[in-house]
Amino acid sequence: MELLLTKQEGGIVEITIHRPQELNALNRPLLKELSELLHTLQQDERVRCLIVTGSGDRSFVAGADIGEMAEMTRPEAEMYSRFGHRVMRQLETFPVPVIAAVNGFALGGGFELALACDIRIASARASFAFPETGLGIIPGFGGTQRLSRLLNPMVAFDLIMTGRRVKADEAKALGIVSEVVEKEALLSRAWEIAELIAKKAPLAVREAKRAIRDGLKLTPEEGDVLEEVAFGRLFDTEDQKIAMRHFLDKEEAPPFQGK
Ligand code: COA
Repeated sequence: MELLLTKQEGGIVEITIHRPQELNALNRPLLKELSELLHTLQQDERVRCLIVTGSGDRSFVAGADIGEMAEMTRPEAEMYSRFGHRVMRQLETFPVPVIAAVNGFALGGGFELALACDIRIASARASFAFPETGLGIIPGFGGTQRLSRLLNPMVAFDLIMTGRRVKADEAKALGIVSEVVEKEALLSRAWEIAELIAKKAPLAVREAKRAIRDGLKLTPEEGDVLEEVAFGRLFDTEDQKIAMRHFLDKEEAPPFQGK
C-alpha cells in the first residue's frame, strides 16, 4: 500500500500521510518515503507551496509507530531519533512554505511533524499532545526543541511533562495553530492559503522563508544582515522590476515568472 498520497495542481502539492489502519502513525518506511518525496519535490522549481495532511477524518498522525519502537535498543533509538530529525528538518528547510492541515489527532511525532511546518491550521476536531512521557520516553523528532523555540518554554514544559491533550481551540489560544475551521472546510482553507502564496513572487517567497527560518538561529543584528542581503538579491530579479513598474504605471502586473 502507498504510504503517501499526493495531489498536485498549479504549483501546490498536497501530501497525505496514509496509514489509515494505524491512524497514520509514522514508521520508518513512511518516513523514508516522505524524505524521498521531499527530496524530489525540492528539485522542482514549479513547486510553490506544500500542504501536509492525514488520511481519513480522525487522525493527522497519531505519533511514531509504537510497535516499531517497543523493542529498540539504545543505539537503534538514537539512530531512529536522528533519522526523524533529518526528515523534520527537510520540511523545515524545504525551500517553499509548508502548511500543516491538522485534521485530527496530532500526537507525539504527529505534533512534531506539524511543528516542522511553517503554517498550521486545524479542524475543530483536531487535538494535540505529547504522550511520550507516559510511554517512558520523550519526544524524539524535535518536540522538546521546536515547541519551546517556536512558542515558549512554559507551553513545552506543560505539554511534554503532563502529556495532556489540547483541543483545537486551546491550540489556537496557545499559538500552536493560526486558524481553526470546520472539518469539511479544512483542506479548502489550506488550498486557499497555498494559492495566496503561489500567486506571490516565487523568489521573494523563497527568500522570505529562508530569512525567517535562518534568522531564528541568529542574533537580531546578524538577522538584519541576512535580511539586507536577501532584500538586495531580489532587486536582481525581473519579477521585482515588472511588479514595481506596473504599480507605478497603475497597471495590473502579469503573473510572476520566478525570474
Ligand atoms: N503506533 C502504532 N499504532 C498506533 C498508534 C501508534 N502511535 N496510534 C494508533 N495506533 C493503532 C492502534 O494500535 C490501533 O491498531 P489496531 O486496530 O491494530 O489495534 C489503531 O491504530 C486504531 O487505534 P485505537 O487505539 O484502536 O483507536 P482509539 O480511537 O481507541 O484511540 C488514540 C486513538 C490515538 C487515542 C490511540 O490510538 C493512542 O493513544 N495512540 C497512541 C498515541 C501515542 O502515544 N503517540 C505517541 C507515540 S510516541
